[in-house]
Amino acid sequence: MSVRVFLNGQIVPQAEAYISIDDRGFLFADAVYEVIHVYGSHLFAWDLHMIRLTEGMQELGYAPVDLGALKTAAETLVAEAGTPESSVYIQVSRGAQPRAHLFPPAGTPATVLLWVRPLTPFSPQLVQQGVDVITVADDRWTKVWIKTVGLLPNVLAKQAAHERGAFEAIFVRDGMVTEATSANLFIVRQGRLQTAPVTNYILPGITRQVVIELAAAMGLDTELRPFAVETMLHSDEVFLTGTLTEVMPIRRVDGHPIAGVGPLSHRLLAALHDRAGRPAE
Ligand SMILES: Cc1ncc(COP(=O)(O)O)c(C=O)c1O
Repeated sequence: MSVRVFLNGQIVPQAEAYISIDDRGFLFADAVYEVIHVYGSHLFAWDLHMIRLTEGMQELGYAPVDLGALKTAAETLVAEAGTPESSVYIQVSRGAQPRAHLFPPAGTPATVLLWVRPLTPFSPQLVQQGVDVITVADDRWTKVWIKTVGLLPNVLAKQAAHERGAFEAIFVRDGMVTEATSANLFIVRQGRLQTAPVTNYILPGITRQVVIELAAAMGLDTELRPFAVETMLHSDEVFLTGTLTEVMPIRRVDGHPIAGVGPLSHRLLAALHDRAGRPAE
């Protein structure tokens, strides 16, 4: 059977899933999205993702969508995929209308898309050795807390990282680290975690929130305070958190080695997997 996707209330073969050329997500990046990590059949942190999706839609003035239908579709398509791990992608746009900046008339239906794709977990070796990252200027707009599909700065930064043999790019605004192109960032200094506070300049990551909780359960506080690139370079550990990135230790920043890869990031990843119900390696 060909792969099926959910589009505007129906599950259809992907080859039959068409979106209008007038869709505002396509023309204006007037759309929000979510990515959910599925461990087995467990849609990890589904409710938190739906809260963030709803908050973004409210901020942009979208009409609510049927979250129950999204969950049913996700469960159906995860079962059809049948892979040990998968990701759910959800995108909601303000809908289609002949191109005009002004919002379409009230009642214009949103475009709601959901698909499920298999996920290949990172190799244990990669997690063990950590990844390299580069720093780039954070030239994104000032509402990155809304998870819109307007990701061109992220795309360019990620590509720049790839071309320099790195795994991720870290955004820096006014000398302070904000986050990565698709992950948040933590540092560890003297057994204490630190990450940038939630402002309009970072995406309030679900994994960031879960990791703060997991650390607290281990008796570790997380300080929510901005930090400079210099501070990051001289930390005991630096790691990324994200739905697909999970907890990924950083080995080098712009070629500068970080003092340690793990052990705290490795413990937090194990705790995350435990919470998600992922079988141990
Ligand atoms: C810019 C950005 N920051 C942080 C994250 C991490 O958020 P989450 O843990 O909810 O995946 C993402 C996820 O895609 C992201 O795109």
